[in-house]
Amino acid sequence: MLTEIITAMQGKIALVVGATGGIGGAVTQELVQAGAKVVAAGRNHDRLAQLVQKYPSVYPVATDITDFQQVHTLFQAVSDRYGSLDMVINCAGAGIMKQFNKLEPADLDWMVDVNLKGCFYVTQTACQFLKEKRSGHICNVIGILGKHSMPMATAYCASKFGAVGLTKCIAEEVKRLGIKITIFYLGGVDTPFWDHANLKVDRAKMLSPQQAARSIMFALSCDPVAVPMEINIQPESHLFF
Ligand SMILES: NC(=O)c1ccc[n+]([C@@H]2O[C@H](COP(=O)([O-])OP(=O)(O)OC[C@H]3O[C@@H](n4cnc5c(N)ncnc54)[C@H](OP(=O)(O)O)[C@@H]3O)[C@@H](O)[C@H]2O)c1
Repeated sequence: MLTEIITAMQGKIALVVGATGGIGGAVTQELVQAGAKVVAAGRNHDRLAQLVQKYPSVYPVATDITDFQQVHTLFQAVSDRYGSLDMVINCAGAGIMKQFNKLEPADLDWMVDVNLKGCFYVTQTACQFLKEKRSGHICNVIGILGKHSMPMATAYCASKFGAVGLTKCIAEEVKRLGIKITIFYLGGVDTPFWDHANLKVDRAKMLSPQQAARSIMFALSCDPVAVPMEINIQPESHLFF
């Protein structure tokens, strides 16, 4: 790991939302190894316990981001434990891939609840906690389908395009409060996200969760005056222009 990253992360308090997933798990690992104190959030208690077993310094807080009150309780738990917060990496999300004419109302609700409303609750609450110290960094891991369309991804794209819109608007409003916000347009990453996707994909050609995590660590360790607003990384086999 680069020395600048280790220097930048020493003693920092990081909240990883979706730490129980592929990208969030890899980010958690990188942050712990770089010396940050990590609070890990997700719904799955077993996967949170596994994270703590692997990295005993991790503080787990079971959270469903579709519930605004639970999101607020999560940030309060970070504050109660550490009295501070430096960075929030939001890797929580879900994907449903179906032809548009097969989508049920419940499918659309699920995508909007997790990927759009959940992203809003996390970003809004993060800003409330970060604005006190007039510094901090929020990374919203949205994905390339937040700005490009794809067949079978109608509900997913709708939620992700919305997540990009809300993130950009919030970034405009908090830029004078010392809060940085970075949007990540990652392409396919080989994680459990694809385990149940009803699509033919070649996972061997995807980015690894570690590659995705390293791009997030790069953004988090940029010079204080530098704001990485958007990072777009695609696997070589599947470039979007
Ligand atoms: N994999 C890709 O190709 C790819 C590419 C670009 C962007 N993305 C996006 O990147 C993010 C992470 O994806 P991934 O590949 O790491 O997927 P993953 O392995 O399936 O992980 C998804 C994470 O989201 C969490 N989550 C889902 N619903 C939640 C809820 N209601 N409340 C709290 N946490 C919830 C899951 O935790 P629990 O189950 O414990 O709640 C898990 O930690 C997602 O937003 C995804 O859309 C993925």
